[in-house]
Amino acid sequence: MKTLVSYSTLTGNTKMVAKSIFDIIKGEKELICLNENNNIDTDKFDTVIVGYWVDKGDIDKLAKTFIKSLKNKNLAVFGTLGAEPESDHGKKVSAKVDRFCAKNNKYSGGFMCQGKVDPKLIEKMKKFPLNIVHPLNPERLARLEEAKKHPDEYDLKNAQKYFSKLLYNEDI
Ligand SMILES: Cc1cc2nc3c(=O)[nH]c(=O)nc-3n(C[C@H](O)[C@H](O)[C@H](O)COP(=O)(O)O)c2cc1C
Repeated sequence: MKTLVSYSTLTGNTKMVAKSIFDIIKGEKELICLNENNNIDTDKFDTVIVGYWVDKGDIDKLAKTFIKSLKNKNLAVFGTLGAEPESDHGKKVSAKVDRFCAKNNKYSGGFMCQGKVDPKLIEKMKKFPLNIVHPLNPERLARLEEAKKHPDEYDLKNAQKYFSKLLYNEDI
């Protein structure tokens, strides 16, 4: 049984989580960045783990296209997002991700953690039209400030714990 840990990333948060998960994978394994390699021979893998970053409430395009190409795999995912995973937004995204991933594969679940938001996006939020759609009110500013610390050691450990339990039924 060979396991693929793949991920899509813009600013490196999802890469950090991918590396952490990759460390606890047993047996034959490969770590592939989807931004660098979009021609993966998925026949080699029976278990595929896909990391994505949340883009406008959904799985980013690169990861989504890759997930769409998978059939009958043991599939699990992980994602990073600016919001807190337990927020309404986080829960909505998580439910949407679950629905999408369960379509053509043996989907076993997904892990999420917060990730710092690209400062370029924060600059855009100060200007029209994002200043109307996503005003930088005190709540959002506090969330963005908190997100700056993530993924932290705790998130990386939690990701390992999640996948250890999911794949091997082991508590670490
Ligand atoms: C264009 C864009 C759209 C985003 N949309 C969302 C969103 O809808 N919800 C959210 O919680 N975070 C959103 N984020 C924040 C990212 O999901 C978050 O910072 C993530 O950790 C980035 O991962 P990366 O460093 O692997 O690229 C967005 C970021 C960008 C750049």
